[in-house]
Amino acid sequence: MGSIVAIVGAGKLGTTIARLLLAAGYDVRVTSASGPGATGFILDVIAPGARAQAFADAVGEAEVVILALPLSRIRDLDAALLAGKLVLDATNHWESVDGRFEDLAHEVRSTQYVADLLSGSRVVKAFNHLGYHDLDHGARPPGDPARVGMAIAGGADDLARAGEIVDAAGFEPVRLGTIADSAPMEPGGELFGRVASADDIRARAAVPARS
Ligand SMILES: NC(=O)c1ccc[n+]([C@@H]2O[C@H](COP(=O)([O-])OP(=O)(O)OC[C@H]3O[C@@H](n4cnc5c(N)ncnc54)[C@H](OP(=O)(O)O)[C@@H]3O)[C@@H](O)[C@H]2O)c1
Repeated sequence: MGSIVAIVGAGKLGTTIARLLLAAGYDVRVTSASGPGATGFILDVIAPGARAQAFADAVGEAEVVILALPLSRIRDLDAALLAGKLVLDATNHWESVDGRFEDLAHEVRSTQYVADLLSGSRVVKAFNHLGYHDLDHGARPPGDPARVGMAIAGGADDLARAGEIVDAAGFEPVRLGTIADSAPMEPGGELFGRVASADDIRARAAVPARS
């Protein structure tokens, strides 16, 4: 495997995804607002094996970048450094974290807002609709009858690789469609917080079998 994944955000979600991908053999780099020194101490305890780096170093070497920071802080990132990368957007418009986020027009999918900010990147929505504790306890290998499904949404050319990352993390990827189809994944949507099989997710989101 050996592929490098950078996670932006070392909080509840970022460190959970780091553990899952470390277990799958990925080389995981993590970057946060407070910098590699403080983040390194956190990772040593809760995601040992992940490497704390400054943003430019972490994303520069990464094939895939996972956004696990508040949605409202994505505009602070240097979009040029993410150009050409596969970016998995795990963020949500969550009022307790982001406040009333005036940048986001009501009718716009939050991942579309992210894709517009990072217009040079290949943005896929993933890892956003399950809580970090469900991710922590829910990972299962392929074929396990208790495997939990995870919806992903983005460009057709990018969903295959995004699905491989989700699969490696221990969840069954379910392709919902493009970012425009991602409303069920958002807070208040049918899939948000739902721990369910891939078949159940397909049925609830009216997605054809084996997507
Ligand atoms: N918590 C969940 O179960 C869950 C599940 C799915 C999706 N999400 C979404 O994931 C995102 C993160 O949630 P969370 O619960 O993990 O939040 P959190 O525990 O508060 O962690 C947020 C992280 O973002 C980092 N950060 C803030 N500004 C940054 C910047 N400009 N550059 C790099 N890193 C920055 C913070 O750095 P410092 O550590 O240095 O402060 C912190 O590590 C949110 O959009 C949330 O809606 C959360």
